[in-house]
Amino acid sequence: MIELQGRTAVITGAGRGLGAALALSLAQAGCNLVLCGRNPAALETLADRIASTTGRRPASVAVDLADSESVRRAVDAITRSHNHVDLLVNNGAMWLEARDTPHSAEEVLTVINSAVTGTFLFTQGLLPLLRRSAHPDIVTIGSVSGLPNAPLQTVSVPFYAAKRAQAALADGLRQMLAGTPLRSIVVHPPYLDDVQPGEPEWAEAAERAKGTRGTNRDVVDAVLFAVTRPRHITLSIVLDADDGGVFPAQGG
Ligand SMILES: NC(=O)c1ccc[n+]([C@@H]2O[C@H](COP(=O)([O-])OP(=O)(O)OC[C@H]3O[C@@H](n4cnc5c(N)ncnc54)[C@H](OP(=O)(O)O)[C@@H]3O)[C@@H](O)[C@H]2O)c1
Repeated sequence: MIELQGRTAVITGAGRGLGAALALSLAQAGCNLVLCGRNPAALETLADRIASTTGRRPASVAVDLADSESVRRAVDAITRSHNHVDLLVNNGAMWLEARDTPHSAEEVLTVINSAVTGTFLFTQGLLPLLRRSAHPDIVTIGSVSGLPNAPLQTVSVPFYAAKRAQAALADGLRQMLAGTPLRSIVVHPPYLDDVQPGEPEWAEAAERAKGTRGTNRDVVDAVLFAVTRPRHITLSIVLDADDGGVFPAQGG
């Protein structure tokens, strides 16, 4: 089994939800982290928790992926403080649910720009640091909504389009980086229950019955599996809950 001990991992959207679960799990696996997100207070709280459990305090870098200037500043900050990056987890992306009223231009721009424009610019900006790693990986957290012919369900059309583009981004990077040491791995989650390491639900999540909703733990386990494969293998993983995560209305 390939060890993650001592690797430097950058995670976007790290302040809460899946990003926080990934951060806690990668820290537990021995990674040194750079926590990136829009909410510095949430990043600091998480950094405190990781420092108290592992003895290693993550760095925190503010980034709004929907703002290209913020992305540029974040890339500069990481480049100044780190001489290499082993793992970049592109987790941050704005969620937008379907509704009957029109979406604002701001919402549409933010959904597309966080998942696609900012994620691409952030990745491109960190490529020089990734190229200095002996085992560099980019992991993109997509969505089953981003797969061809995925049902729209309760997802807004802009989010659906952004996740399709993000799947293409991960695949394009994989092709662009073929023949180099870098891997572009993608994990497509279904709808998730937000469970966190240390909560009782985290242990329960490892033993869910078929037909039950996916959780953050399923994604974390998939990411850990993918990045610890021998380097001639690049995985694209679809986490398929029954019906792609479609659940009957309550009582239905
Ligand atoms: N939860 C699910 O059911 C589900 C299913 C499939 C795929 N995913 C994907 O999993 C990833 C994590 O989502 P989640 O489950 O934790 O729930 P989420 O509510 O979709 O969280 C979105 C994450 O992205 C960050 N984010 C949003 N806009 C951002 C921006 N402009 N710049 C930087 N960060 C931004 C958020 O950070 P802030 O704290 O700054 O808002 C948050 O950490 C996302 O890519 C999401 O699309 C989630």
